[in-house]
Amino acid sequence: MCGIVGILGTSPAAPLLVDALKRLEYRGYDSAGVATLENGVLTRRRAPGKLRELENVLEKAPLSGHSGIGHTRWATHGAPTEGNAHPHAIGKVSVVHNGIIENFRDLKEECIGRGVTFETDTDTEVVAALVSLNIAGGMAPKEAVDATLSKLQGAFALAFLFEADADLLIGARRGSPLAVGHGDGEMFLGSDAIALAPFTNRISYLVDGDYAVVTRGGVSVFDDSGAPVEREVKTATASAQLADKGNYRHFMAKEIYEQPEVISHTLGHYIDMARETIVLPDAPFSFADLDRLSISACGTAFYAANVARYWFERFAKLPVDLDIASEFRYREVPMEKGGLALFVSQSGETADTLATLRYCKDQGQHIGAIVNVPESTIARESDVIFPTLAGPEIGVASTKAFTCQLAVLACLAVAAGRERGVLDADDESKLVNALVELPRLIVEGLKQEPVIEGFARDLARSSHVLYLGRSTSFPIAMEGALKLKEISYIHAEGYAAGELKHGPIALIDEDMPVIVIAPYDRIFEKTASNMEEVAARGGRIILITDEKGAAHSNGLAERIIEVPDAYAFVTPILYAIPVQLIAYHTAVFMGTDVDQPRNLAKSVTVE
Ligand code: F6R
Repeated sequence: MCGIVGILGTSPAAPLLVDALKRLEYRGYDSAGVATLENGVLTRRRAPGKLRELENVLEKAPLSGHSGIGHTRWATHGAPTEGNAHPHAIGKVSVVHNGIIENFRDLKEECIGRGVTFETDTDTEVVAALVSLNIAGGMAPKEAVDATLSKLQGAFALAFLFEADADLLIGARRGSPLAVGHGDGEMFLGSDAIALAPFTNRISYLVDGDYAVVTRGGVSVFDDSGAPVEREVKTATASAQLADKGNYRHFMAKEIYEQPEVISHTLGHYIDMARETIVLPDAPFSFADLDRLSISACGTAFYAANVARYWFERFAKLPVDLDIASEFRYREVPMEKGGLALFVSQSGETADTLATLRYCKDQGQHIGAIVNVPESTIARESDVIFPTLAGPEIGVASTKAFTCQLAVLACLAVAAGRERGVLDADDESKLVNALVELPRLIVEGLKQEPVIEGFARDLARSSHVLYLGRSTSFPIAMEGALKLKEISYIHAEGYAAGELKHGPIALIDEDMPVIVIAPYDRIFEKTASNMEEVAARGGRIILITDEKGAAHSNGLAERIIEVPDAYAFVTPILYAIPVQLIAYHTAVFMGTDVDQPRNLAKSVTVE
């Protein structure tokens, strides 16, 4: 999604704005721009494409001025052209915007009726127009923004710069995140603390509906009723180093290799090793009292929820209603009061997941969030947070956040099993020990990287790839297909292996690689039958399995990736690693932008 930065500084703002925008690149974008007050005049530089294009523009035509706003744009309304890139400016007002103004067409007509000429296809320009009209009508900037905000529908964050005042920024938040950075004689606005890391680690987060009037001397915040409010200044943990690739070629590779450490860190938060038991944060509900559990999420987080359904049903005998958040929010699902709704989200800002959370809250559900960003909106609106301690995930394609989500969900399922009397202390201790072994097994599994790299070149020549799995390997098949699609742009599908003969088998020929995820477990033989069906039609099988599975694969697979033996409970977490590496190396061979694949955004704050 779009990224926003604002600076009231003591040195030239443009290079600092670009530096901060680089830290927001991970959110995904397709054009960028900055505006500063150059000798009291609003001046802009914008460029389609990556930030280096904007830097080229700034090199040829530098911008002076110590006050400015900057933006990385992920196109929603209008193509990613220079003209549509932010900041937008009308009259003496310039604005950057993340999100969507849903009623912009009506507002645009109103502004045209009042004599405004628009230059872009964006929804954003109407915001600059309204504020500008208000100022022309005699309002001060604060009142002009306040009056404009009350007319806007949609979810957004905004930052304004005004030609009349070099010591003023106004930021507003409704649905999309916005943070205020507090420096010494300098103040900042940013979509998150990482953007502001080089300038300050003293951050206050705006609450939904807030707007902030920022000067070099400080900030005044007003809530959605216009009343002045205090927002606590926290010392943010995000530091400059966190946005560093280290020795890796891509953030994605770094994040894949961080998994043993971050999973261990995450498990450490939930496991009492001395008692071999799971310890959960205090919660206003007990799993013992539940008849059902609902879990909603989007994308990769949804696949983590898919795995969790098998765990909750098997280990806690707790039926799970599983939903894609973008579907759930419009289904008008009746819910029994006092139930538990869980939400899984890396960013904690995904618009559809948040809307579903609010719906469930209105339906009297207890809300639990498995989130990676503890300051996020989803975290703040939940009754209880189950954090994933994956650290900032910069690669747009989720890797370490996914496996940490699985680790947390596994702990929740075990705790639920204990609370519901399904698991005794012995069962719990076995499951806990299986989890504790994971970081070591992942380190072992990562040693298969050269094997995967060896055949990724071949895979890169395919137009389509099919992933198959049963039970908890089925969501891993879907996740594998999603990873391949999003970073290599090769079409891929993940199927339940048992569904093969109900349709997709028609696709099988010698040009169709079939990646089979099959640990040697109680249903291995069923998947082996599906491999026979593929082999009989000339399909080329890549099998991800363990030593026993390899021994029982009857020579059906063209290639085998051998993962360490593990307790069936934890195999989805372990088998996620090779599917990530397959996508990664295929994309590297294809030469795609691995960390920022086309059209994708890290944090999807629009529906
Ligand atoms: C895929 C990916 C996305 C996200 C989805 C939800 O690699 O990262 O599918 O999983 O957009 O995002 P969060 O987890 O932030 O709610």
